[in-house]
Amino acid sequence: MRLPGDKSISHRAAMLSALATGETRIENFASSADCASTLDCLENLGVEIKRENTTIYIKGVGKKGFKKPVKELDCGNSGTTMRLLAGVLAGQNFNSVLIGDESLQKRPMRRIIEPLTQMGAKIESTENHAPLEILGVNPLRSISYKLPVSSAQVKSCVLLAGLNADGKTEVISPKSSVRLPTSRNHTELMLKYLGANIEEDYVEVEDEFAHRVSIDGNSKLVAKNFEIPSDISSAAFFIVAASVLNKSEIVLENVGLNPTRTSLIEVLRNFGANIEILNQREVGSELIGDLRVLGQKIFAAENSSNVIGGETIAGLIDEIPILAVFGTQLENGLEVRNAEELRIKESDRISAVVENLRRMNAEVEEFSDGFKIGRSHLKGAQIDSFGDHRIAMAFSIAALFAEGETEIYGADCVKISFPEFFSILNEIVN
Ligand code: S3P
Repeated sequence: MRLPGDKSISHRAAMLSALATGETRIENFASSADCASTLDCLENLGVEIKRENTTIYIKGVGKKGFKKPVKELDCGNSGTTMRLLAGVLAGQNFNSVLIGDESLQKRPMRRIIEPLTQMGAKIESTENHAPLEILGVNPLRSISYKLPVSSAQVKSCVLLAGLNADGKTEVISPKSSVRLPTSRNHTELMLKYLGANIEEDYVEVEDEFAHRVSIDGNSKLVAKNFEIPSDISSAAFFIVAASVLNKSEIVLENVGLNPTRTSLIEVLRNFGANIEILNQREVGSELIGDLRVLGQKIFAAENSSNVIGGETIAGLIDEIPILAVFGTQLENGLEVRNAEELRIKESDRISAVVENLRRMNAEVEEFSDGFKIGRSHLKGAQIDSFGDHRIAMAFSIAALFAEGETEIYGADCVKISFPEFFSILNEIVN
């Protein structure tokens, strides 16, 4: 199978191509509604975009070439669109308004308002929630910003604002025991790919490493084509399904394997899942490869720990709902901790997971920062997606493991990241 393009990378490819000079062709652009929101916003900022199925052509306008939008910029359900665009718009010489749907209006925006305000932009909000009115300033002040939480959206927002700042803007991530960015680093890789003056290193603090990245406000971006890898966060649902269902075999081609996104594979392997990586190679700024998954009887953790927490969480954040479903099949169950960020995603994913697993007869304990799941014999049930795409998809896979029929309410929200999800699932399950 070849799955649609990565959502995180597609958002960034579109925004950075618009900020570049020259024309870009983006192949395998994500089919997700979220990425369509990004394209619509860019068009409202005067960027010319041509769509041919999943190939997109963008005429770059340069860092200061956007036009004042004639209407509000609608980010739909997409936190990435809102938080990254806010960084781009903070350094423009005009005012703009970012709006979003009911779920996006509930999500915290203080995390971007704070650094952008330090840089000299003025942002009006309703108690740190969208709609956001951005009163742009050019140039912005360059800052050194220590991220209070490990968030790629906040890191990217500040770096994009840094493109229009008067010096070097740096972002320091929380500490980690390994020299690896604690959150996805697509923005950094792509900025470098397009010729920005960007530097990265690690600040060593008591045997731990804090990732630091800086961008020079004089950087110019020059258009270059992109080929978007398949989305590993979409692949995750099929990887878990195939791992658990004995005698399954699937091959997923051209999947993005950026090390900041592959923690799920490591965790599943640690429980004995058979996942092989083939043809690993670099395409553009990203590592990709094919994944071969064989279903077999699993699953006890090799190191006997069934607790996932600490710094592992950021690299798995979007995969936790499906990991929870996987947890119901493990001999000793699974405990997830330090995942409080899940409460402020498209839905409160901790309570959505707990509520739906209980409906399916699983034994679950809820914590403020996670949950503990015992090995469970799942039963078909009526599931509420809570309007959250990853909840709808995770529980569609749970339904495959369950006895009896499952109904998922509000399942059309899968279009947010993966409109083809049900048709592909139908094709591979028989
Ligand atoms: C994303 C970053 C993550 C992730 C989201 C996409 C991105 O959010 O959950 O789905 O593309 O930068 P945070 O930055 O809030 O962790």
